[in-house]
Amino acid sequence: MYLCICNALKESQIEALVRQGVRCEKEAYQRLGCRPQCGVCVPVARALVRGASPQPA
Ligand code: FES
Repeated sequence: MYLCICNALKESQIEALVRQGVRCEKEAYQRLGCRPQCGVCVPVARALVRGASPQPA
């Protein structure tokens, strides 16, 4: 499932980074070669890297 439409990032890509030890959403975007554009996805990405269940917007 797509997490970030602006950058075409999938939730699974963030989850893979979390398994590699990434614990900051900014680092996750950086490691994927992009950065937030509209920002809609940031709260969900933050919840994923911090190990919380993402809350609906
Ligand atoms: S949906 Fe991720 S920056 Fe817009």
